[in-house]
Amino acid sequence: MFPTHRPRRLRRTESLRQMVRETVLTPNDFIYPLFVQQVGDAPEPIGSMPGQMRHTIDSLLQTVEKTAEAGVKGIILFGIPAHKDDVGTGAYVEDGIIQRAVRAIKERGFPLEVMTDVCLCEYTDHGHCGAIKNGDVDNDPSLELLVRTAVSQARSGADVIAPSDMMDGRIAAIRKGLDEAGFPDLPIMSYAAKYASSYYGPFREAAGSAPGFGDRRSYQMDPANKREALKEVRLDIEEGADIVMVKPALAYLDIINEVKRATDVPVAAYNVSGEYTMIETAAKAGYIDRERVILETLTSIKRAGADIILTYHAPEAARWV
Ligand code: PBG
Ligand code: ZN
Repeated sequence: MFPTHRPRRLRRTESLRQMVRETVLTPNDFIYPLFVQQVGDAPEPIGSMPGQMRHTIDSLLQTVEKTAEAGVKGIILFGIPAHKDDVGTGAYVEDGIIQRAVRAIKERGFPLEVMTDVCLCEYTDHGHCGAIKNGDVDNDPSLELLVRTAVSQARSGADVIAPSDMMDGRIAAIRKGLDEAGFPDLPIMSYAAKYASSYYGPFREAAGSAPGFGDRRSYQMDPANKREALKEVRLDIEEGADIVMVKPALAYLDIINEVKRATDVPVAAYNVSGEYTMIETAAKAGYIDRERVILETLTSIKRAGADIILTYHAPEAARWV
């Protein structure tokens, strides 16, 4: 009791504060999401995500080099194909944009992990994450397309496969597909608890992947549910996920925390586009201290239980810490 206890004693100096600090960010914590576009010969700024680009392969290579120099240990790639169709062919063709980008990056041998997002929404003309039947995504036939995508990314040299589609049974299907194709050692980072969130808005504008009809609520999770997240995570681990992800991060810190307690695999959290853009626009207006808010946000996500954070602030934050 006060006055015996005075918590302020341990806050008196910076060295004391550092000594008792419970959560410390390092560059190893971050994964940098990057967009690469098939058409055009110059990188294009993304209006909805100030500071981020739709890269060409050349500008991507330069950015990956700088990202590695900052000490970041992973990037995750999203492709924007030249053509879209109803079954997302661009996601699994040999010379698809992601396949080309991965080969180009791996040729350069940067000291970081090249992760690839497995989903069809950037590649389908209807913008959904699988094939459509009767106005909804048809789960089981979509699995085959996702497996094809994952195996084709593996063949191009991807280091980690990250399925974000939220189809039932996809982790088992992809694990089996990778094993049979000769990639038993390739890890899967599953977007296990991925919510049907409105925080993905800026990303969908960046990737042109907004659904053309309806929404994603028949496959992504209801933001109101927590126990269901634990079920999704458990199923994905049983099916072979090596890392599980919670997405988004900030409005879901409780989910990150529960998942961390309930599992013994690394937990990733995706600090998504909407979270990024809110900080950028508020900082630009002069209402918040940009660097401090970014570091406070990332620290909070780690404190909640995330071992790995996917963030558009990765290279910058890595330099600051
Ligand atoms: C693809 C995918 C999305 C994001 C990552 N992978 C969009 C979506 O599900 O609509 C969102 C990432 C972000 O908002 O930063 N399914
Ligand atoms: Zn998708």
